[in-house]
Amino acid sequence: MKEPLTSEEKQLLLLLGWFRRHYALYLGLSRERPATRKGILEFGRAWFGKRLPDLEPAFSGLQQKGLLRQKDEAFELTEAGSATFQRLDASETFYRYEYDNFFSLSEKSAAHALFCERVYGENLNQHGLADVQELRQLLAFVPIRNESSGLDLGCGNGRITAWLQRQTGARFLGVDISPEAIRRAHQASNPGLEFRVGNMNELSFSERFDFILSIDTLYYAASLKHTVEACLSHLRPGGAFACFFSQWISEEGEKPLLEGDNTALAQVFTGLGQPFEFQDISRQGHRHWRLKRDVLLEMRPAFEAEGSLALWHYRFREANRYAEWPEGHYARFIYRFRAK
Ligand SMILES: C[S@@+](CC[C@H](N)C(=O)[O-])C[C@H]1O[C@@H](n2cnc3c(N)ncnc32)[C@H](O)[C@@H]1O
Repeated sequence: MKEPLTSEEKQLLLLLGWFRRHYALYLGLSRERPATRKGILEFGRAWFGKRLPDLEPAFSGLQQKGLLRQKDEAFELTEAGSATFQRLDASETFYRYEYDNFFSLSEKSAAHALFCERVYGENLNQHGLADVQELRQLLAFVPIRNESSGLDLGCGNGRITAWLQRQTGARFLGVDISPEAIRRAHQASNPGLEFRVGNMNELSFSERFDFILSIDTLYYAASLKHTVEACLSHLRPGGAFACFFSQWISEEGEKPLLEGDNTALAQVFTGLGQPFEFQDISRQGHRHWRLKRDVLLEMRPAFEAEGSLALWHYRFREANRYAEWPEGHYARFIYRFRAK
């Protein structure tokens, strides 16, 4: 691609690239649904919220650049458009815009703070599954010494990182793809904490770490193997890589994936010839999704009263999808890897 893309064009490309993929499923839309201008805008608002810019100039811009074509009412990426989308989705990512929206809404919502308190035991503006009990379990499984330093990969707005810092006294670098999350993380001033915008698809640090934590973030890696390899290569000798990882399956034939030593993540460790250990926390995972859904149902009026219904919908459609997931089709683990 010779000509640079505008921010609007990038967002339109990312929306088109994801339109038919599983994100459409959350909204109850069919994969066959044509990508009309109205449909794309609806999809965009559901994920990027009010931050979605006026995409009108991007429709014509991408067509002029040969990345987009229109057939009747529907738009589709050209071959060059699909290739550009693939590159953009690894470098800038769809999630960056999704999480910019989430963190800009959630921090100022009193209803969301109460929701987090009820679901996670304390309001750390969580987005993943790990509640305070699971975080304590992590620290028991992977002890962190106060003179050590490490990385929190996918740290969001840093509230969980700051909590971990207070518990351990260690130094933490938090990294996240969302500039909005990191901007907010910077507001916490603590000499044991540092935050930077960074991408788990392109990890490269001059320093090495005593520990690297991934708290429900590896699902977003463009290549799980590539990101895990990058994490392991950034550990000091004796350092630990620890992650919370959930595995979903949709068909009976995939059941072996639910074994802790055979999940998509376990297979990556095994393929790299790296020994690992794990704890099974599947029951907690199941409970989490149902609790989240039930608390949200109860709290809908509180979100509505403060004008945060968009945030409620955003959280509810994920919670409901996984609360309804068949019981025998889900497993959750904490993994631990130690560098020699
Ligand atoms: C499910 S949330 C988990 C956040 C937090 N660790 C927690 O448990 O609440 C996933 C986080 O990963 C971040 N993320 C997504 N893709 C990323 C990427 N490619 N590189 C770095 N962070 C990413 C998101 O911005 C978001 O903050």
